[in-house]
Amino acid sequence: MNFTEQDVLKALSHVDDPDLHKDLVTLNMVRNIAINGNQLSFSVYLTTPACPLKDLIENACRTAISHFIGPEVDVKINMTAEVTADKKTNAALPNVRNIIAVGSGKGGVGKSTVAAALGSVLSKMGANVGILDADIYGPSIPILFGVQNQAIEMEVVNGVELMKPVMADNIKLFSIGFLSNPNEAVVWRGPMISKALQQFITGVNWGQLDYLIIDLPPGTGDIQLTLAQTLPISGAVIVTTPQNVAIADARKACAMFSMQPIGIPILGIIENMAYFIPEDAPDKKYFIFGEGGARQLATQFNTQILGSLPISVQLMSDSDKGLMKDTDSLKNFTEIAQQLARQLAINNSLK
Ligand SMILES: Nc1ncnc2c1ncn2[C@@H]1O[C@H](COP(=O)(O)OP(=O)(O)OP(=O)(O)O)[C@@H](O)[C@H]1O
Ligand SMILES: [Mg+2]
Repeated sequence: MNFTEQDVLKALSHVDDPDLHKDLVTLNMVRNIAINGNQLSFSVYLTTPACPLKDLIENACRTAISHFIGPEVDVKINMTAEVTADKKTNAALPNVRNIIAVGSGKGGVGKSTVAAALGSVLSKMGANVGILDADIYGPSIPILFGVQNQAIEMEVVNGVELMKPVMADNIKLFSIGFLSNPNEAVVWRGPMISKALQQFITGVNWGQLDYLIIDLPPGTGDIQLTLAQTLPISGAVIVTTPQNVAIADARKACAMFSMQPIGIPILGIIENMAYFIPEDAPDKKYFIFGEGGARQLATQFNTQILGSLPISVQLMSDSDKGLMKDTDSLKNFTEIAQQLARQLAINNSLK
């Protein structure tokens, strides 16, 4: 069996990334090709470790090699990832590839829970994740990860003094809740908060991040508007519950992000506490708070529903206990995290 690296590249140029509509070779996803007799190995760099199309792409590569080179080639594929960067985010913060803002209009709809869960899932999938708690009125991220008593340490990086994020396994956390007197912040106004948050972004030693998730304060007032205007956000995720009052507020949040010149893409809507499945009647599904509002909202703003989450007693109790990164309920967030990462990669490829 005799074939070259060129043959391999030619074969794999017949495999398209289904989302990006270009072939893997053009996208520079195929690397580290090694040939030894009829043994072939190479790496495929996906746009995110959370890529839901991983198996599909791997199978397509195997089929292409078999078809264009020969079925007798012994193929070993290392499916790995290099998260693509949003140009705007990356220009402002060279170490950060994407910033995801998690917002809502209404308070108490599960924004912090969702931000923490998505961060945990993306981190477990192999991404470098940071979570910035921007909710100065009710910082919840320290509680959700059970690290509320941590004090912030300083460290000098290249001659600059930076604040060290608090680690929860591999997830880097920063919250105003870690600072000595968080109560002071409650009287801050928009511009002050925006300044403080800018500092949390540039004054924290985040290191290399694939995804920086920002848990925004609830509402669509002055503060949220300033944040949306000043932070280099790649896209927003809107969390809502199904009630009309929540949907009405979520609509305001969507309008705020979409407003020109802000123009932050809405990556999708997450419908939280959408239904209840009783433990003793798992075949029953009750839509306690109503149905259909999130779908209408998604249509109106030309975006998608990233997922609908059930009311989960376990999620609530685990988050109260600070077990966010290990709760069994994270399984409900896997597909949402995949779809979110996928949408960011698509958006990045179009810029
Ligand atoms: N799917 C769910 N099932 C059950 N409880 C949930 C669910 N999602 C969130 N909760 C609970 O609802 C409460 C509010 O959630 P969370 O603090 O995440 O909301 P929030 O939108 O961040 O609120 P705030 O506006 O105060 O920042 C918490 O006690 C949380 O555990
Ligand atoms: Mg919150």
